[in-house]
Amino acid sequence: MRIVDLRSDTVTKPTTKMLHAMNDAETGDDGFGEDITTNRFEKIAAEKIGKEKALFVPSGVMGNVIAIMVHTKPGEGLICDKNAHINTMVSGNTAALAGITTSQIDADESGNLDIKEIETHIKLDEIICPKTTLLVYENTNNLAGGTIVTPEKSYELYKISKKYGLRVHLDGARIFNSAVAQRIDVAELTKDCDSIMFCISKGLASPVGSILAGTKEFINEARRVRKMLGGGMRQTGILASCGIISLEEMVDRLAEDHDNARFLAEGLATIDGFHIKLETVNTNIVCFTFHLPRLNCRELVETMGKKGVKAICFNKNLGRMVTHKDINRSDIIYTLEVVKKIIYP
Ligand SMILES: Cc1ncc(COP(=O)(O)O)c(C=O)c1O
Repeated sequence: MRIVDLRSDTVTKPTTKMLHAMNDAETGDDGFGEDITTNRFEKIAAEKIGKEKALFVPSGVMGNVIAIMVHTKPGEGLICDKNAHINTMVSGNTAALAGITTSQIDADESGNLDIKEIETHIKLDEIICPKTTLLVYENTNNLAGGTIVTPEKSYELYKISKKYGLRVHLDGARIFNSAVAQRIDVAELTKDCDSIMFCISKGLASPVGSILAGTKEFINEARRVRKMLGGGMRQTGILASCGIISLEEMVDRLAEDHDNARFLAEGLATIDGFHIKLETVNTNIVCFTFHLPRLNCRELVETMGKKGVKAICFNKNLGRMVTHKDINRSDIIYTLEVVKKIIYP
């Protein structure tokens, strides 16, 4: 059966070049800071993202929680989007590991946080409230549909945070998608934050890992917290060798994923039962609501799965499809055919 896996860009397989690089990677014990390839990767990553220093971490989830732990003290509060990954998809680690309360606000239609709304949620002097010390936002905003945050908006978020002494952490799991979609250097999107996490194991096709970046002091402390969480690894050059290829060769091609996502979204939008805000399809994610009297989103996604086309359903009405390097235009055309056959039997 033909399989088209649109659940996430995390399903991407490493390229042949990555497999060779893994085989040839020069390694050492990263616990001693001696893994040559990891050191090179972290240097390249820091330069690309425009930060002083970078740290290779096993996952985006760990990168984000390390950042939160370094920027805050237990008992403090952070502000984020209600649907933020750190709030909805981390098994509660913000509370359980960092001891932080999240103050959640609704992002607007375009996935952006409103400055006034942020301001009303900042608590500095009320003794009964957790003191707000951090703002976390996503670029791209995953559950808003892969929407982009512009450099101008990033600056506004930074400016309001600094007015109240907050640190700013950017969950940039897919920051390169945002940069490619806006046709700008990624550093334009990362200059106005104190730390950034981005993933190499999503659209950039590496098998494992993320980068956390910030000032030297921040990363030195992040290295200690990574160890505390059990994320210190040894011959990581095997993985970092793929990360180098991700950064040097896999970024520009994200534009193809964005074209495919738009083609998919426009196709789905013509099918009965689908509601898609086409203006939010900025990158490689297509979020949709689906409902017909005889079929809800969960049932649709289940039926598609039986026919080899895999998507994700978040609840009875809300679903998501994500394009990536292992999906081509013919897969999208096939997906639309499969969906149409289900809806118009
Ligand atoms: C916005 C966002 N942040 C963080 C993560 C976590 O990354 P990982 O799955 O590598 O832990 C994800 C994963 O999908 C994500 O979408």
